[in-house]
Amino acid sequence: ETSSSDDEPQSSDSHEDSKDLELKPETFNAKSDGNGEIIVSDTTEDISSTSTLKENLNDNAQEQQVTIPEVLKPVTYVHLDRTAAIQESRLALPILGEEQVIMEAINGNQVVIICGETGSGKTTQVPQFLYEAGYARAGMIGVTEPRRVAAVNMSKRVAIEMNLPTTKVSYQIRYDNNVTKETCLKFMTDGVLAQEMKQDFLLTKYSVLILDEAHERTANTDLLIGLLSRVVPLRNKKGNPLKLIIMSATLRVEDFTKNERLFKVPPPVLKISTRQFPVTVHFSKKTPQNECEDGLGYAYLDEAFKKICKIHRTLPPGGILVFVTGKQEVHALKRKLTQTFPSNMPATTEPNNNEEVLDDKKENLPQMINLDDYKTNPDNEENVEEKYHHPDLLLSEEENESDSELLMDDSAYSAENDRVLPMQVLPLYAMLPPHKQKLVFEPVPLGSRLCVVATNVAETSLTIPGIKYIVDTGKVKRRVYDKTTGVSTFRIGWVSKASANQRAGRAGRTESGHTYRLFSSAVFQDFDEFDLPEISSKPVAGLVLQMKSMNIDRVVNFPFPTPPPLDALESAEELLMSLGAINRPPRNLTLKELKKGSGSITELGRLIASFPVHPRYGKMIAMAIDQKSNVVEYVITIVAALTVKELFASFQYDADQDQDKVGLQMLRQLAARLQHMKVLWCTGGGPQRRLLGDPMVYLGAIGAAEFAGATPSYCANNCLRPKAVIEIRKLRSQLTNLVNSVQPDYTIEVNPKMNPPIDIQVKHLRQILLSAMPDQVARCIPTGEMVAGEAKKLKGAYRCALMDEPVFIHPESILSRDPLPVFLVFQEITEMKEGKKIYMRDVTEIDPSWLATFCPQHCVFSKPLEEPSPTYDPVSDDVKCVVTATYGRLSWPLGQVVIT
Ligand code: CDP
Ligand code: MG
Repeated sequence: ETSSSDDEPQSSDSHEDSKDLELKPETFNAKSDGNGEIIVSDTTEDISSTSTLKENLNDNAQEQQVTIPEVLKPVTYVHLDRTAAIQESRLALPILGEEQVIMEAINGNQVVIICGETGSGKTTQVPQFLYEAGYARAGMIGVTEPRRVAAVNMSKRVAIEMNLPTTKVSYQIRYDNNVTKETCLKFMTDGVLAQEMKQDFLLTKYSVLILDEAHERTANTDLLIGLLSRVVPLRNKKGNPLKLIIMSATLRVEDFTKNERLFKVPPPVLKISTRQFPVTVHFSKKTPQNECEDGLGYAYLDEAFKKICKIHRTLPPGGILVFVTGKQEVHALKRKLTQTFPSNMPATTEPNNNEEVLDDKKENLPQMINLDDYKTNPDNEENVEEKYHHPDLLLSEEENESDSELLMDDSAYSAENDRVLPMQVLPLYAMLPPHKQKLVFEPVPLGSRLCVVATNVAETSLTIPGIKYIVDTGKVKRRVYDKTTGVSTFRIGWVSKASANQRAGRAGRTESGHTYRLFSSAVFQDFDEFDLPEISSKPVAGLVLQMKSMNIDRVVNFPFPTPPPLDALESAEELLMSLGAINRPPRNLTLKELKKGSGSITELGRLIASFPVHPRYGKMIAMAIDQKSNVVEYVITIVAALTVKELFASFQYDADQDQDKVGLQMLRQLAARLQHMKVLWCTGGGPQRRLLGDPMVYLGAIGAAEFAGATPSYCANNCLRPKAVIEIRKLRSQLTNLVNSVQPDYTIEVNPKMNPPIDIQVKHLRQILLSAMPDQVARCIPTGEMVAGEAKKLKGAYRCALMDEPVFIHPESILSRDPLPVFLVFQEITEMKEGKKIYMRDVTEIDPSWLATFCPQHCVFSKPLEEPSPTYDPVSDDVKCVVTATYGRLSWPLGQVVIT
């Protein structure tokens, strides 16, 4: 995947590379040992003498020479006063029997990797092992999690298990922490630790760091692994050793162990074996092809439906877990199942007050967006049902008889509904409100079969009790980014082999189970082994700026577990330069030059980097601080809303509505948005709709919601997502505090309630949006430029520099209906359906004359006009000249413009 062009050997010169990586000493107060050299210490003990450990360690590690620093020798065991019940439940965990092996490996090595299935006890137990072994005496034990909710919940759980107060076992996440002076075990998000490294590069408060869920390969965890690979030897050299433990569920450890740039001595890998009951994996003889017009829209959904029916009608009791790709699919399949099978739960009904009022407006329905698309490659199909045996899944041959029953034809189960047991169908996906998610853990009504229709959240994060059958469509919806333009598309594609096996394993948690794969083994053989790490699939501008703010200028030499593609790094540097966050070198960089060194951070860049949001948004805040017009609180609110995303709740699919009701929901949502606008903007002669744009709607919606107290009922009535409203409030207050701390002479209030901005402020807000998104300007295609016959297809079409194809305003945008703005700036482009319309999201109308002032890099200027004119003001420096905006191949004459 990494772009290894001919002249750029990626890893062959790894030794030189690690020297090249310049961790400037001043960043971590370690002047004496600032060159980053790693020294493998003298031998004091050979870990291969431990026989149990020997079996568990990978081959490389067995010859490894290791050191136990005096300070970390576990001389005193720290006693914990656990309750009997806790102790009993701990003893049931597979990891508990491995405590000695794990601790010997940790004592004997600077870096250790621990792998084990979800639920084996890694997260809850390893920190306790360390605490009991006395590691908290030399500093804090830090644990990073990719998700906030995990950091909070795990700290609470571990505090209970250890019978210690939360003042000692604490958490720290973006907006919240309960850390005290006494904290000795801290759970935090990987982002929090990355931020801490900006202040204290050597992380001197910690004696051990555990990077949990490393298999998720978030950009922050990958960054931390790279940084810590250098910090650990430095700390060792200073005589204040730091241990690094990398914990992961599924195995993809080669990126960590076989990467010489990262760890010169491959760290030992400990595998926790889990009690897994046999799971029989059944492949389909056929793979559903393409999308179909009828049924559930996708062939694989119809297949999933049929398979669930067969299981339910013919196989012994046991829960079913089916994997589909998204919320819509979850509800489509759920609806069909509930229509087919009786439920012995009372049906929930939702009041629908606005129905009559809105009914006559149906023709105004915004266009429905189909989020899904997928195309399968024609696969070579064998006409036999296959059984695939994966060693990790402990498959058993005997379990297969039941399968023949599943091969009976459809007619066998199409009738006699009354003889079928009830089914309790429950949805499960990330955006589902927590109280509805929790339902999957509750016992099903007596005599009912549980069927959970889930997205891949059920793959690793959650363990649902009683699941015996897995139905795997093999599909996942991914957001795919263009590395250079950042344009993203939702694509439905095949999961990786690792994911498919992880899904299959979910069936064997409590007893033996079956996994039905709705694709053939031939197709499976072509699956990727693993999912791409985040760092190789997303734009990296934020990450690059973060690293530059730690004075790591040569990002390209950084020892990432998997390096980001070079073109992604280049476009990140390009964006940061255009924002003024890093210095622009005198000429364009070749790849070689980029590798040697590139733009270092500017003062503005440091200011931008101090805000934990995308550099574009950081730039908006920096600009607002600079402005006299007092728009900081508005900019912060807009930035918060754009960062949190999905402020407006989308349609309530839960209610099992039919299509008409979905349409009504959309209308209601639209009406609610317009109402927000009115509340804040249209009273007192505020700006007209067409002067605004989506970010202004968010500002209006948040402003109105906060005035109303943002109660749950207010949110529900106005189609606001309560979680988003709360998070935006927190982010606003965090950003406000940051503004106050970086600009001590400039104080703004942390006050959720704002007064509506006045017209001139609205104008400035739109100009600030433009200057943070100078490359994301689009112009409506004038009718004159359309070739005959194109007019219909190009109705409402725009041109922008990022895409060759025409782009459109997203139908959910406030500006998507006539009269359309001529020029606009957008936040992002998404292609909802491959090969279909490409949409701009979160658009703001701009005045083209602003381009000359706010995007001069995209403008060609004539000489200042000689003739004094009514707009030329010789007293001020305003100059009038003829301007042409140029965006790549696009050239837009702007006429005479006054430059301020
Ligand atoms: O990290 P890993 O997935 O290996 O396991 P864990 O999160 O440490 O969980 C170990 C066990 O503790 C599991 O069986 C969970 O069900 C249980 N647990 C719990 O009961 N309550 C929690 N809040 C967290 C874990
Ligand atoms: Mg865990």
